[in-house]
Amino acid sequence: MSSQSTPAPLVHRHSRRLLAAGRLLARLAGVLLQVREIQLSRDLKLIAAMTADRVIGLGDGLPWHVPAEYGRYLQTIAGQTVIMGRRSFEIFGSDLTSRCAIVVSRSVKRIVGAAVCPSLDAAVRQGSLLGGEVFINGGQSIYEQALPQVDEMQLSIIKGRYAGDAYFPAFDEADWVVIEQCEYDQYQWRRYRRRPPGA
Ligand SMILES: NC(=O)c1ccc[n+]([C@@H]2O[C@H](COP(=O)([O-])OP(=O)(O)OC[C@H]3O[C@@H](n4cnc5c(N)ncnc54)[C@H](OP(=O)(O)O)[C@@H]3O)[C@@H](O)[C@H]2O)c1
Repeated sequence: MSSQSTPAPLVHRHSRRLLAAGRLLARLAGVLLQVREIQLSRDLKLIAAMTADRVIGLGDGLPWHVPAEYGRYLQTIAGQTVIMGRRSFEIFGSDLTSRCAIVVSRSVKRIVGAAVCPSLDAAVRQGSLLGGEVFINGGQSIYEQALPQVDEMQLSIIKGRYAGDAYFPAFDEADWVVIEQCEYDQYQWRRYRRRPPGA
């Protein structure tokens, strides 16, 4: 009798390999699902510049000229995702440094250099599937609709009085905590986090 153990039949070896491959695939699917859940639950942020009276715009632009603040905005959104109304994209689209711009529009289906969504919800869903930060980026109508679901706001408060025809929605400061604040000559910058319910 030989001392060597008899090799497992070929069919058994194949089924063991198949089983191991199946387990590996199942584990991989689990990891992918977790990653997707993390992405779907990612914070929604908002970025805006406004006066103390909540003016954000005048006609087809901003009523003020504060290059330092605009530079800070472009730096913040660089490489990230922004969600904008169709009007705001027409105004600021050519300046954007974001990796992805998602434009909300009922009237337009395609825009060169941007993804178009027919509703704000669809835009937020699409944004959450991409990597990086997702910023609600105006204008008035989009800020109004998105504010209730935003977790963080980065607001630049422009000093001085300016006439305008577009406004940031009123919000209750008690619902928010200022977690960071910087003072500059022409504006004050604040980062707000939504206060957890009951806190
Ligand atoms: N200071 C700041 O930080 C800042 C930032 C951004 C903008 N702004 C200012 O904001 C002003 C523009 O605001 P706005 O309210 O007039 O325009 P907007 O919000 O930029 O865009 C309005 C358009 O977005 C689309 N839209 C809005 N809600 C939608 C929904 N639920 N589903 C589908 N589409 C939707 C519609 O496009 P369609 O008509 O194509 O259907 C609508 O006409 C300008 O003065 C601009 O300078 C200021």
